[in-house]
Amino acid sequence: MISKETIQHIQGKIDIIEIIGGFVKLKKRGTNYLGNCPFHNEKTPSFTVSPSKEIYKCFGCGKSGNTIGFIMDHEKYSYVETLRWLANKYNITIEETESSPEAKAYQQVTESLFIVNHYARDFFRDQLRDTEEGIDIALSYLTERGFTPEIIEKFQIGYNPGARDALAQSAIAALYNPEIMNKAGLIVQRDGQWQDNYRGRIIFPIHNQSGKVIGFGARIIKSNDRAPKYINTPENELYVKSKILYGAYFAKSAIDKANECLLVEGYTDVVSLHQAGVENVVASGGTSLTTDQLRLIKKYTPNLTIIYDGDGAGIKAAMRGLDLALEEGLNVKLVLIPDNEDPDSYVKKIGASDFKAFVSREKKDFILFQLDVALKDAQNDSVKRSNIVQQMAETLSKINKTEDFAKRQDYVRRVSEMLNIEESGFNALVNKFLRDKIGKEQQQNFQTESIPFDDGQTNHQVDQYISDLVEKDQRHEQAIVRSLIEFGTKNWDDEKTVADFIFSELDELELMQQIQNDKFISILNSYRSMISDGQSPTLKDFMYHEDQELQRELIRIMENEPDLSPKWEEHYQAIIPKRDDLYREEILSNLYYLQLRKIKKLMAENQAELEKTKDPEQQLLILQTHQLLKNMENTLSQKRGTVIYKS
Ligand code: CTP
Ligand code: MN
Repeated sequence: MISKETIQHIQGKIDIIEIIGGFVKLKKRGTNYLGNCPFHNEKTPSFTVSPSKEIYKCFGCGKSGNTIGFIMDHEKYSYVETLRWLANKYNITIEETESSPEAKAYQQVTESLFIVNHYARDFFRDQLRDTEEGIDIALSYLTERGFTPEIIEKFQIGYNPGARDALAQSAIAALYNPEIMNKAGLIVQRDGQWQDNYRGRIIFPIHNQSGKVIGFGARIIKSNDRAPKYINTPENELYVKSKILYGAYFAKSAIDKANECLLVEGYTDVVSLHQAGVENVVASGGTSLTTDQLRLIKKYTPNLTIIYDGDGAGIKAAMRGLDLALEEGLNVKLVLIPDNEDPDSYVKKIGASDFKAFVSREKKDFILFQLDVALKDAQNDSVKRSNIVQQMAETLSKINKTEDFAKRQDYVRRVSEMLNIEESGFNALVNKFLRDKIGKEQQQNFQTESIPFDDGQTNHQVDQYISDLVEKDQRHEQAIVRSLIEFGTKNWDDEKTVADFIFSELDELELMQQIQNDKFISILNSYRSMISDGQSPTLKDFMYHEDQELQRELIRIMENEPDLSPKWEEHYQAIIPKRDDLYREEILSNLYYLQLRKIKKLMAENQAELEKTKDPEQQLLILQTHQLLKNMENTLSQKRGTVIYKS
């Protein structure tokens, strides 16, 4: 593990303009820098880098993040690889911390597994190429199916001989550890002897992102009722099925270039398509996609095109994964291959160029496709149709990333058209599902906010009101966090820093309890403990905070600001006072808002008391309290009105 000190050292050195400027041509524009976005094609630059905020944001495609995130995205490096790259760039010697005994043991196991896997891969490959049995049985089979020697070589396809223990004997003689070979799924113990697990099978090695072999898929050559078609590596420290996409290593750069990832079911589909020159393709292994696999795809592209045969089980599995894919922000398309074909057989049948044309012609939006299928099935059955409406609303509510708002609205329009229902009603239903989810996630508590609508009002207005409220609340909470991080070390007055002031107000007025977002609370607490340790926290400390969730939240807060927009700067810079000049007003305004929220809550509680009690004296007391709170509310509202800050 890289030591904490080294990480801090690296972070201290990072110069976002220098680093990103190494990949993107940047021009200074006001306080920011502007260039053509490297993550999508554009002619007019909308990729903005802010040195003061230490983040980049593209106003075209919406991508944003810090310097480390940029390198991870752009170079497809892991976090640790990125740190090593930066350390190298800045000539920083990496100190490794002594890892725990468990971590060491784990690392030893994974290293040994890689070693035996590489030995086995080479063994299988040699058997296929250089032995009579391999050539006669396996190579001839592959050749008959149309695979070229080049593609067999590229995918390192091999053959495990039919003898009981060809691999086991060879490996043990070469002093490889049989227990590790067993863990890797290569050999098994039968009758007290080590025997090969994949006897007489074609071997497809499975690679991780850096091209190392983590497991194998072993296909039977002649179909046989008693034996399974494929034997796969058992789960172990390297082979975690839910995270594997077969072919990802070979597809990486093609996916990047095409900005699209094709998904098929089988190993042979991937290999065949590569052979045909379609290289942006990976396979899921015939099961429904997991969140880990989807995130891996999302690292390269948001556009996922599933190519399955329409009658197979695969399509049902894919449908089950659709909601997950939407949640990850993927745009999912579907191409159905004609009956009794799969991508492998079909591309061989019609040829590479017809296949490509077929895919682009037949590509359908998966959500609309699903709706189409369901509608055909339902016919005029009204119960079924109303189930579909619910189902579609729920599905669309999974498109819930802020940047996907327009996409969701577009679907709402098209789906309500197809369902022949009123768009606004359907939209309200989608919002209800969205809110249920937000409610569950953030456990927000709306009961105390009184809703200014009678029962007679439509649901739709209530929906709108609630979602506005949530948004407004979030904005003020995040504004407090933001001003703390940006201005915390500035002076509030002769005695206090801005941070001192904010914390003393939060404490004195008991406003911490008013903040509902857990991550904001964590950021505030973390800041507070830094100042009590005598540090002066900087934006960097949080931008690269060890807690990844906090980092992400902070990037979100920082990017949500109009002053990052190039247009904003160009047009208004000279006229509008900068936030830097107004931070006192901004902070006061947000603190007032929290106080108002607290008073509103107290009023609601008070109101509830009033409804419960029958004692007149108690009632009087409550009414007086109400008046007091009301006065406080008025004073605060007036104060808020005098600060120059739009909410
Ligand atoms: N699969 C599996 N175990 C099985 C059958 C299938 O793990 N018993 C997985 C494999 O990853 C396989 C994928 O599901 O690649 C798709 O199955 P299938 O279409 O039957 O296999 P193909 O790889 O297409 O093989 P072929 O074209 O030779 O029939
Ligand atoms: Mn097949």
